[in-house]
Amino acid sequence: MTATLAGLRIVVSAGPTYEDIDPVRFLGNRSSGRMGFAVAAAAARRGADVVLVAGPVHLETPPGVQRVDVRSAAQMHAAVFAALPADAYIGAAAVADYTPRAVAADKLKKRGDTLVVECVRTADILADLGAHALRPRRLVGFAAETGDLAGYARDKLVRKRVDFIAANRVGQPGSGFESEDNALTVYWPDGECSLGPAAKTLLAGQLLDLVFAN
Ligand code: C5P
Repeated sequence: MTATLAGLRIVVSAGPTYEDIDPVRFLGNRSSGRMGFAVAAAAARRGADVVLVAGPVHLETPPGVQRVDVRSAAQMHAAVFAALPADAYIGAAAVADYTPRAVAADKLKKRGDTLVVECVRTADILADLGAHALRPRRLVGFAAETGDLAGYARDKLVRKRVDFIAANRVGQPGSGFESEDNALTVYWPDGECSLGPAAKTLLAGQLLDLVFAN
C-alpha cells in the first residue's frame, strides 16, 4: 500500500551544481540527478504538488512536476527558498561546498606551473532550512560518504536539524552517482533502515514510504 501525498507540497533538489571559475570553466561533480528526479517523479505520481530544483543534468522532467533549472549552489539556495512554504524538502542534490571567491571576467591564461583558485564556503541549503521559520515539517538530506556512514549521518541529523539522512552506501557494485541503481541506509533520530540495492525509481518510492509513514 502506498500512501497518497495529495495536498502536500514537496520541494526536491537534484543533480550537481556548477561553480564558475571563468567564462569557460567551472567546478562541478558527477551527480547525475537520477535519485532526485526519481523521488520527484514518485511524489508526483502519489499526488503531491512537486517543485524540482535541478542543477545541470540531462534528464527529462517527470510528468506533473514543476521544474526550476539552476546552475550554482547560490542559485539553488535561492530557488529552494523561493518555493517555500512546503510540507517537505528532499535534498538529493550534490551541492558544492565551496565556490570560487570571484568569477574571472576573462578566460584564465596559462602562466606558472601551478594555479590557485581561492574558494569560499557556499551557504548550506539544508542547514538553513533546518533553522528557518518556514522549516518544512519533513526535512530529508542525503549523504555520500566513503566511510563511517552512521557516524556522519547521525552528526548531520543533529547539526543540520533534519529528520532523515539517506546515506549512499558507496562502494557497493551498482550504486552511486552515475548508476541507475543505488543502495541507501536511512537514518532518523531513533532508528535506521537499509534500502536496496535496487533501481533508483524503486528506492524513491520506499524512501517516500519511510518519510511520510506518520
Ligand atoms: O554535509 P554534506 O554536504 O555531506 O551533506 C549533504 C546534504 O546536505 C545533501 O542533502 C545536500 O543536498 C545538502 N547540502 C546543502 N547545501 C550545501 C551542501 C550540502 O543543502 N551547501
